[in-house]
Amino acid sequence: MLSGSQQRKKLIMMEIPSVFGPRDRSITLYEGINHHPDPDSIFRSKTVAQLGCGNGWISIALTEKWCPSKVYGLDINPRAIKIAWINLYLNALDDDGLPIYDREGKTLLDRVEFHESDLLFYCRDNKIELDSIVGCIPQILKPSPEAMSKIITENLSKEFGNIFRTSGPLRGFVEDQFGLGLIARAVEEGMAVIKPTGTMIFNVGGRPGQGVCECLFLRRGFRITKLRQTKIMQAANTDISALVEFEKNSPHRFEFFMGSVGDQPISARTALAYMKSGGHVSHALSVYSCQLRQPNQVNKLIEILKNGFHELSRSLDLSFADDSSAHEKITFLVYLASFLNANKPNPCQPPAE
Ligand SMILES: C[S@@+](CC[C@H](N)C(=O)[O-])C[C@H]1O[C@@H](n2cnc3c(N)ncnc32)[C@H](O)[C@@H]1O
Repeated sequence: MLSGSQQRKKLIMMEIPSVFGPRDRSITLYEGINHHPDPDSIFRSKTVAQLGCGNGWISIALTEKWCPSKVYGLDINPRAIKIAWINLYLNALDDDGLPIYDREGKTLLDRVEFHESDLLFYCRDNKIELDSIVGCIPQILKPSPEAMSKIITENLSKEFGNIFRTSGPLRGFVEDQFGLGLIARAVEEGMAVIKPTGTMIFNVGGRPGQGVCECLFLRRGFRITKLRQTKIMQAANTDISALVEFEKNSPHRFEFFMGSVGDQPISARTALAYMKSGGHVSHALSVYSCQLRQPNQVNKLIEILKNGFHELSRSLDLSFADDSSAHEKITFLVYLASFLNANKPNPCQPPAE
């Protein structure tokens, strides 16, 4: 027999200062999820992980809306996990403390769990296979002078996106320098625990430049769809002088916007000058939905590269203009990698003399 009321209209959320609750970044992520063309296909009756769940509001809200079979809300901050569990109970029980059942006769407590976890460690450790991953994790854009001078002396590329294509072993390193290291790690961990046709949704702050951000997914063999883009105001006291220094010695330009509506990107140098004259600048925040183009092939390739070809995997670039060239080239790469892995001679004969 069902007890409690069938549906609660609004989420009830407890917040404490040391735990993230709804803010620009996570609200944009949730809006992005709502803009997905077919959210039922990625959430309804599915197994989902939410990375960087904070006080748990997104995990709870998406469960209320799409009834996944299980959502694992994960955060590295143990306090966040405690608050998230409290919020789960606040929303799972009615004012009399009775469980609220959904249309399938289940409660939020049946569908959601929160765990302390560094990215997807919990799922990996418990051999949980996921259908979808949703991520709202930090980006810290703090280029170190030492790392930057290395990039600069390597004299890399005009378009910064090209750094990923030309810098070989520097790539992982470059993603870190652009504050994208944690997202890159989450994507790679995700590939190991998600079903081949699974979907990952991440929000990414656009200061490194759209090309750099998108390359993070594309070079790992994903097809991406931008679900939503908004602008986030840059706090007036944020020091962007390190970015200006980097631009002085490189062709790369970071991406800011004048005010909250400008649509022409400006460099860090221009943004700094504008801020000094009393102006406000913003940067883009985009929500991407990503699916592997050829999941079985790409995963096979990654597995082989992990096995003694680590440097190669850091310089892997599987971004192709269209599906047919991706298909042809990825298939060939897997074939080639399998030969190398088996210590067989290179199957590609050199041209005749
Ligand atoms: C921008 S907040 C997002 C919070 C939450 N999604 C919300 O809706 O408010 C980023 C969250 O990522 C968490 N985080 C940072 N590094 C992490 C890691 N390595 N693994 C898991 N969570 C992490 C932080 O503790 C924080 O709660």
